Amino acid sequence: MTNNPVKPTACELLDIMPQTQTEWTFRVKNNLPIKHGQFMQLSLPKIGEAPISISGFGDGYVDFTIRKVGKVTDGLFSLKKGDNIFIRGCYGNGWPTEQFKNKTVVIIAGGTGVSPVKSLVNMLCEHSNYARDIYLILGFKNSHSILFADELKKWQTASHFHVIYTLDDENYPGFKKGLVTDFIKEIPFASFDNEYECIIVGPPIMMKFVGMGLLMNKVPEKKIWMSFERKMSCGIGKCGHCRIDETYVCLDGPVFNYTIGKKLID
Ligand SMILES: Cc1cc2nc3c(=O)[nH]c(=O)nc-3n(C[C@H](O)[C@H](O)[C@H](O)COP(=O)(O)OP(=O)(O)OC[C@H]3O[C@@H](n4cnc5c(N)ncnc54)[C@H](O)[C@@H]3O)c2cc1C
Ligand code: FES
Repeated sequence: MTNNPVKPTACELLDIMPQTQTEWTFRVKNNLPIKHGQFMQLSLPKIGEAPISISGFGDGYVDFTIRKVGKVTDGLFSLKKGDNIFIRGCYGNGWPTEQFKNKTVVIIAGGTGVSPVKSLVNMLCEHSNYARDIYLILGFKNSHSILFADELKKWQTASHFHVIYTLDDENYPGFKKGLVTDFIKEIPFASFDNEYECIIVGPPIMMKFVGMGLLMNKVPEKKIWMSFERKMSCGIGKCGHCRIDETYVCLDGPVFNYTIGKKLID
C-alpha cells in the first residue's frame, strides 16, 4: 500500500490567542521540523482545507495566525482548546536564512504579512550575532488591527533592532501615521557596505509599491525577497492550481527572489 501524500494528521489544538477580533493565533501540537517561512495545509473534515503560514514554532508546537475570511477559517474559529485540527506539511522553501548571516536585514511587512516573517524576526532578535542590524518597518491599518503586540514591544527594545511601526490612517502611541512605503527613505542603505538583504511581505499591491520604493533607493533586485499567498490546492506540485507559467508557488515558493517574484505579482 502506498502512503497518501496529502493525507492530513489530526493534531491537538493546544491554545487560542486572539490578536484582533478577526485574527487569532492557533497553537497546535507538532513535532515535525520547520523552517522559517514555510506553510502548512489546515483542514476540517467535511469543510475544506486552507494553506496557512507558520507564524511561530517551538518545542512540541506550531503557531498559525489566521484571519477569519471564509468557510475553513470560520470553522477553525469555532474550535476550542483540546479539539483536533487536521494538518499536513510543512510545505514551501521558507526564507533563505543562510543568506542573512552577518548581513544587515531590512524587513518590511504589512498586516497578516507579519505572520510569515515573525518566527524569523524572533530568531534574529534572540541570536543577535546571526545577522548585523535589523531594520523593521511594520504597518497595520489601524489600532484595532495591530498583530503580535508583545513581540512588537520586544523587537523595539532589542539593541540591534531599528523599528518603525505604522498605522495607515491613525495617530496612536508608538506608531507613525502613514503607509510603510512612506518610511523606506529613512533606511540608511548607503551605510550597509552592500552587505544587506531585504524582505517584503504583505498584500500584492503593498509588495509592488514597496518593491518599487526599494529600487528607487538603489537596492539591487537580487537583494529583495518576497513571500506569496497564491491560491493553492495540493501544496505539493501535483494539481497546478498555484502555477504561474513554469513556476509552482507551492514548491518553488512561497518565498521568491524579486528577480522572479516581480513577475508573479498579479
Ligand atoms: C502560502 C499561503 C500562506 C497563507 N497564510 C495565511 C495565514 O498565515 N493566515 C491567513 O489568515 N491566511 C493565510 N493564507 C490565506 C488563506 O489560505 C485563504 O484566505 C483561504 O482562502 C482561507 O480559506 P477559507 O475557506 O476560510 O476562505 P474561503 O471560503 O476560501 O474565502 C476566501 C476569500 O473569498 C472571500 N469569500 C468567501 N466567501 C465569499 C462569498 N460568499 N462571496 C464573496 N467572497 C467570498 C473571502 O472574503 C476571502 O477573501 C495563506 C495562503 C497561502 C497560499
Ligand atoms: S498547489 Fe497544487 S501544484 Fe501547487
